Amino acid sequence: MRLVLLGPPGAGKGTQAQALAARWGIPQVASGDLLRAAVHEDSELGREAVGYMDRGQLVPDKLVLKMIAERLRKKDARDGFILDGFPRNVMQAEALAAGLERAGRKLDKVVAVMLPDEEVVKRISGRRTCRNCAAMYHVIFEPPAKAGVCDKCGEELYQREDDAEETVRERIKVYHATTRPLLDHYRRLGLLAQVDGEGRIDEVEKRILAAVTGDHDYD
Ligand code: AP5
Repeated sequence: MRLVLLGPPGAGKGTQAQALAARWGIPQVASGDLLRAAVHEDSELGREAVGYMDRGQLVPDKLVLKMIAERLRKKDARDGFILDGFPRNVMQAEALAAGLERAGRKLDKVVAVMLPDEEVVKRISGRRTCRNCAAMYHVIFEPPAKAGVCDKCGEELYQREDDAEETVRERIKVYHATTRPLLDHYRRLGLLAQVDGEGRIDEVEKRILAAVTGDHDYD
């Protein structure tokens, strides 16, 4: 399965990508996680990307494309992957398609997880992430058993630097201007399914599974 998850910030792409990756035994390839790891390591990529990320703007295509191409070349992604946060604009989508084509592959499906802007702000303001294993929580909707501590590995949970309200508003703006047009792009290619991102995490997962497999037992 080669799947792209699209959607606004906080729509639940990462949450759903983690669940689907575990279900299908293929990697979640999250551009935001890769960029945050590069910032944490203080690599050249991280130093170039951090200012854009802190302002809620997209990191330049050239940097992101190189990073994703390297990740998709790894052995674990050979038989499938779930892309989360990439592509973010039509140029990235075209570069992805060309790269896959050169390798004799193609995308199977693109699922857009839809969420109204006001819900985005609620979801993001309560998000907490594990520093160690990147497991995701929400202080109200998906709290850890012990506040501030990851259920899975016992490490500290933190709030992302770009989750400040003003930055979130900028990320929503960038989504509408740059990423949302990708829905039309993938609709034209016959790859797009749109699912409602509201409701419980397991309900949204069932909608995605039904959209991807066409099997409405998940409904
Ligand atoms: P990135 O990390 O990709 O952020 P994003 O797209 O803004 O998405 P988020 O990670 O904020 O949200 P999500 O949809 O994954 O939701 P989540 O599952 O966490 O990008 C960050 C930055 O990196 C960008 O601004 C840009 O600078 C740069 N970047 C990344 N990719 C790039 C690219 N391709 N090109 C250029 N620049 C790039 O859920 C959110 C919260 O809600 C969590 O707390 C979760 O527990 C909770 N939740 C999830 N589902 C539900 C539910 N159904 N009900 C209740 N709560 C829920």
